[in-house]
Parts: sequence; structure tokens; C-alpha cells
Amino acid sequence: MVRVGLIGCGAIGSTLAKAIDSGEVNNADLVAVFDLIGDQANDLVGKLKKKPKKYHEFNSFLRNSDAEIIVEAASQEAAIIYSEKVIASGMDILIMSAGALLDKEFLSRIKETAKKNNKKVLVPSGAIGGLDAVKAAKYEGLERVVLTIRKKPESFKDSPHFKSTVKSHSDLDKPKVLFQGCANDAVKLFPANVNVSASLSLAGIGGKNTVVRIIADPTITTNIHEISIKGKFGKLKIQLENYTHPSNPKTSYLAVLSAIETLRSNISGNIKVGT
Ligand SMILES: NC(=O)c1ccc[n+]([C@@H]2O[C@H](COP(=O)([O-])OP(=O)(O)OC[C@H]3O[C@@H](n4cnc5c(N)ncnc54)[C@H](O)[C@@H]3O)[C@@H](O)[C@H]2O)c1
Repeated sequence: MVRVGLIGCGAIGSTLAKAIDSGEVNNADLVAVFDLIGDQANDLVGKLKKKPKKYHEFNSFLRNSDAEIIVEAASQEAAIIYSEKVIASGMDILIMSAGALLDKEFLSRIKETAKKNNKKVLVPSGAIGGLDAVKAAKYEGLERVVLTIRKKPESFKDSPHFKSTVKSHSDLDKPKVLFQGCANDAVKLFPANVNVSASLSLAGIGGKNTVVRIIADPTITTNIHEISIKGKFGKLKIQLENYTHPSNPKTSYLAVLSAIETLRSNISGNIKVGT
């Protein structure tokens, strides 16, 4: 059994923990959970059959968790503060708050630490798909990568950029473009909403060259992600209409499924398809 530790017991962390607990992730055992908010960890552990150890303080989690792989499902800030320490302690890490990886210094430090310690850094495709095609296409040159993200206005209400440009999310009665620019800026202005811009950038032409459009749309009921790429291979267009996670409307449910699948395919030893 592979021992898994979890940072962040919110929407993604809880669903992932329940999947492990119910045996959906072969060969995985959830041994420790950590959340800054004590009640989040308590509530989650209360719902699990096998009880992992609970931690409310990172250093104690790191020292005592006895995990082999840690899943970060907390925030970009958490990914930046904890990831290198996790790897340097001899554990692999799966990072959900992928936006953190568009910080150039952090990215180069984490790559270096992972190489030195011979550990894996896993970044799920999250709420989007088609990254296998993007990775393949870039070898012959990609001219353009554009990601359009549409979510309901309330999904953006805690983002610093939304707060400074829109009075209230309920004021919007038609779609409004909140941002158009590079992925590097998008993940800073909308830290909890557009992590997929980072996974797409890392698979393709980087955060400076990947164009992101963010639209608050009161007329939709799903999170819509449209990927459009053009290169020597031809053109690709993908549209995903994602149902949102019941306990966090910012998070697309597919993101959790992608975390579960990434964990499963990396510890099961099965044939890996489409990676
Ligand atoms: N890659 C993707 O496609 C994708 C998709 C959706 C969400 N995400 C990201 O994944 C992360 C988790 O998403 P979620 O929907 O579960 O969020 P959530 O808000 O439901 O849960 C986050 C949990 O992490 C805890 N937390 C926050 N900062 C922490 C810290 N520094 N240390 C310990 N615990 C901390 C919170 O208390 C909360 O319980 C977020 O960063 C989100 O932006 C990524």
C-alpha cells in the first residue's frame, strides 16, 4: 500500500479522501490529513471509515505523517510554502494549486529539489483535458494557445481583481470580460479560479505566451473552459462544460476526478494511457 498524506480538507481534499477510503484508489492508504482550519480536518476524518491522523500544524504533519506521497489541495500560497519541504523530506507531491508553478523562481527551485531528491511532482490536468495533444503538438511549434474560462459571477467574488472591477457579483446581468492577458498574470489576479491556465501553460508554451480570457457569465450553470490551439500540426479546439463541485462553486468537479486519476495511475503500476 502507498501511504498518502493530504494538505487541505476542502472540496477537492475531502472528495479525494473519501475515494481513497472507499477503495477507489487501488493500493492507496490515507494516513494523515492537515488543514489550517481544525474543523475542516475534524469533519473530514469524522466521515471516513479508516481514520488518518489529523494535523493542524504543518511541521508536525511533515515530521509525523509517515506518507510517501502528499496531495496539496489547499491554495497557491500553501503550494509555495510547503512543496519543497515535502520533497526534501523524501515524499512525492501532487499539486492541485498549479497556478503556483507559474512563479518562475518557485518552479526552478521545486524542479531542482525534485531532481536532487529523485522525487516526483505531479500536476493533474484538473478541470481541462487535451494536455496530451498540447504536449505532443509543441514539438513542431505552437503559434497560439488561448484558454477562455467562463464561470458564474459569484465564483469570482473573492478574487482581488474582481473585487476591484465589479461592485457586486449580483450586479452583473450579462457576460463581462474580467481579464484578457497572459496566464502568468491571470493566476495572480484570480488565484483560486484559473489554475488550469497554469497546467495548460506548463504543457504548452509557458505562462507568458499563453493567452487567457476570463468571463463572468450570469447566464450559465456550468464552468465552461474552451481551449484553442494552432500550430504546425493543425488546429485543436476543446470545450468542456464542467459541473461545479457541490461544496465549492469555484471548483469544477472534473478537477477532483483528475486528482483521483493522477494518483491512481501513478501508484497502481497499470498501463498509462494518454499521459
Ligand atoms: N488544477 C485545477 O484544475 C484546479 C481546479 C480547482 C481547484 N484547484 C485548486 O485546488 C485547491 C483546492 O481547491 P478546493 O476546491 O478544494 O478549495 P477549498 O477552498 O474547498 O479547500 C481548501 C482547503 O485548504 C485549506 N487551506 C488553505 N490554505 C491552507 C494552508 N496554507 N495550509 C493548510 N490548509 C490550507 C482550507 O482551510 C480549506 O479547507 C485550490 O488552490 C484551488 O484553486 C485547482
